[in-house]
Amino acid sequence: MADDQRDVIQVLEQDHREVEQMFGELESLRGAGTDEAKARRKELADQVTIELVRHSVAEEVLVYPQVERKVSAEEAEHARKEHAEAEETLHRLEKLDADDPAFDEELSTLMREIRHHIEEEEGDTFTHMRQAMDQEELRKLGGQVEAFKKVAPTRPHPNVPNEPLPRIAAGPAASLFDRMRDLATGRGS
Ligand SMILES: [Fe+2]
Repeated sequence: MADDQRDVIQVLEQDHREVEQMFGELESLRGAGTDEAKARRKELADQVTIELVRHSVAEEVLVYPQVERKVSAEEAEHARKEHAEAEETLHRLEKLDADDPAFDEELSTLMREIRHHIEEEEGDTFTHMRQAMDQEELRKLGGQVEAFKKVAPTRPHPNVPNEPLPRIAAGPAASLFDRMRDLATGRGS
């Protein structure tokens, strides 16, 4: 493992900061009526979706099983449930144009759900992980999460259970299909 490998909490916190920044830009463009602003909002919603799906699936496959084993099964289960809810929101948002009145509503729901997720993880889960796992384990997991995110799906798949095995089974096909669609449409580029 490289000496400069970040630990898993640093990796996940960095993801959270990137998402918060995109949320901030989306909020600042709220109500802007120009075509340019609308296009930018849709682009940002796509980017935030890509980042959130990769982040969440990496957490479900790699991080929550460790939380379940070393911290608390209840805490892991709670996080999976909230991921499933946010994934439904992402799925509804994906189908909407930025000038659809429902777009702002779904976006507000998403921001509330994700800000809550960030608060709980950074407030509780990460602290519990630092208590229950040593630095070497946390760094190793950080490397796995970074590698996993490169091949993870980029679109919400709410029909796939938020558990490691179904995620992995659906993973390669779903990721490849997502990435081919992204390539064909220029989404996220
Ligand atoms: Fe997270």
